[in-house]
Amino acid sequence: METSRIPGFYNMTVEERREIIAKLYNITDRSQLFSEQPLKTETADKMIENVIGTFPLPLGLGLNFLINGQEYAVPMAIEEASVVASASYIAKIVRGAGGFQTEATERIMIGQIQVVGCEDIYAAKRAVLEAKESLIQAANAAYPSMVARGGGAEGLDVRILNEDASSAYSQMLVVHLYVDTCDAMGANIINTMVEALAPTVEELTNGKVYLRILSNYADRCLAHAKCVIPPKLLKSEGFSGEEVRDGVVHAYEFAASDPYRAVTHNKGIMNGIDPIVIATGNDWRAVEAGAHAYAARDGHYGSMTSWTVDGEGNLVGELELPMSIGTVGGATRVHPMAKLALDILGNPSASELAQIMVAVGLAQNLGALKALVTDGIQKGHMALHSRSVAIAAGATGEMIDIVAEKLVQLKEIRVGKAEEIMETYKDDR
Ligand code: MEV
Repeated sequence: METSRIPGFYNMTVEERREIIAKLYNITDRSQLFSEQPLKTETADKMIENVIGTFPLPLGLGLNFLINGQEYAVPMAIEEASVVASASYIAKIVRGAGGFQTEATERIMIGQIQVVGCEDIYAAKRAVLEAKESLIQAANAAYPSMVARGGGAEGLDVRILNEDASSAYSQMLVVHLYVDTCDAMGANIINTMVEALAPTVEELTNGKVYLRILSNYADRCLAHAKCVIPPKLLKSEGFSGEEVRDGVVHAYEFAASDPYRAVTHNKGIMNGIDPIVIATGNDWRAVEAGAHAYAARDGHYGSMTSWTVDGEGNLVGELELPMSIGTVGGATRVHPMAKLALDILGNPSASELAQIMVAVGLAQNLGALKALVTDGIQKGHMALHSRSVAIAAGATGEMIDIVAEKLVQLKEIRVGKAEEIMETYKDDR
């Protein structure tokens, strides 16, 4: 897209925003995409079991994102107020510093085969390694379209777990199959491959195979985002840029050293990532599980991001995470809103999408930390939360803003209070 800066977007009506997006993305048939029930019940009924309906979430656009010199308006599906506003606010600051720089490793996903009961576990390991090339070939024969797409199985490893264990249950051999899944998340591809290899692995090892499944710890499928922000861009009411910068670094050190804080800090990062994972029809449980495991990769659970100060006094933020997501397969193309989200992102490759996700996660983290080390989170939160409370109390149209503003003034953000305020307006009429 030309620019992800759309001044005043926040204050437009939903219809005006849809109008702009339809024009920007050449969406001619708006009826289905912007309908009140974009996921039809019949479609939902084919996606999961025992369907009784669908469960919509607000879909907003994170604006102002400049990533590797490219503009992105980022679709985010989330129920929590402040998240989209905060991501867009930080993206605006970061674009003033040249935007986010991102990169990604190859997209290699891992399939695991668990083998137990081997009489000689070392001989079993040797046998599997000797058959490595034929096992890789067999894996590719089980899913030939992956090779045609330029990916497929390309490596294999064997690990012995609990080597010295006395219990017969705990000693095992684990075969890792490494698969380039291209633009797919890869769960089906990998599960098909490892299931196909299992009988041969049993023969080679003289053992018994139990589990044959993808690992969600995708540590060979990483995306990395970085931003470098001069302190003058961080200045906010009552706080110098240096004060904000130092506060953010102190906040990071807290999360890096304390799991109680790290979990909340990382939850704030996933506030930015999950909404994109959801909006693009990806599996957010897989991304969440992998991200938290990666945050504990050195044996202690810490911060997913790092915030430091460089030689010129700039604030430097970095985030690296495993990203088991895709842009083909699964719900990415079945769900009409996921299709719309991918269209809005310019139909990125899985690698590009993963990089957008970590850039937004990094922005979200800075948004939370900047608020926490200055005014506190409640000020901005309450202003937005007050709108939901007003709606919950039955306010509609312009009454939402009137009631919300009054709630903030009174510092009492409660549905009961909102109802009282609405009553006074009724009396005034
Ligand atoms: C709230 O959804 C997220 C925060 O708690 C994150 C954080 O504390 O860093 C504000």
